Amino acid sequence: MSEDDALAFTESLIHLRQHVSPKRLEAPGPNERQLGLIFEAAAAAPDHGLLVPWRFVLIPTDRRATLGQMFADALLERDATASAEQVGDARAKALRGAVLLLCVADLAAREPDTPAHERLVSLGCAIQNMMLTAQAMGFGAGLSSGQGMASQALRRGFGLREGEIAVCFVSFGTVTSARPRRERPAPERFVTTLGRS
Ligand SMILES: Cc1cc2nc3c(=O)[nH]c(=O)nc-3n(C[C@H](O)[C@H](O)[C@H](O)COP(=O)(O)O)c2cc1C
Repeated sequence: MSEDDALAFTESLIHLRQHVSPKRLEAPGPNERQLGLIFEAAAAAPDHGLLVPWRFVLIPTDRRATLGQMFADALLERDATASAEQVGDARAKALRGAVLLLCVADLAAREPDTPAHERLVSLGCAIQNMMLTAQAMGFGAGLSSGQGMASQALRRGFGLREGEIAVCFVSFGTVTSARPRRERPAPERFVTTLGRS
């Protein structure tokens, strides 16, 4: 790859990627073939110990109501006094985003025992690979999480095993309205050189 190609790649993919709220990610989303390519991109993530310490669960359209019930139960689990309106809002969140996946990290004892933080880095890389691939196909992507991620309702509903955690959801779809790009932090803010002040 020439330097110009590398610059075009970072400009068109890495710098253009931005979080898009699931509310603004409508159909059409990636089709089955495109989703296959997106998952192959996930498989290209760095993975110390080759544990594949993550998995993704697709939530198809005919299971969105089931997810909505999990969100409603998760809210009531942490606030038994939540109003009917709040429960309704929680339920409605499950309907957003043309394609919706739950991202699960496996932090259980395994051999080799790659530390949990390295496994989470691997999941982050897999998610970024998926988002950039979706973007290259012309779709937008966004991540969502919240207090419900650790709820029993979600753990039960997705059949999470001991040691597994639900990290976030990723949504893909057609961007209905774009937002201005946020200013990214300058490298000086997060890069230092050993031995130099
Ligand atoms: C694990 C994870 C969970 C996230 N959850 C949410 C969320 O619940 N709601 C939200 O608006 N953004 C969420 N985001 C997206 C960030 O808000 C977004 O990346 C950040 O504002 C920077 O914007 P950018 O991605 O466009 O550069 C999440 C990001 C990560 C890495």
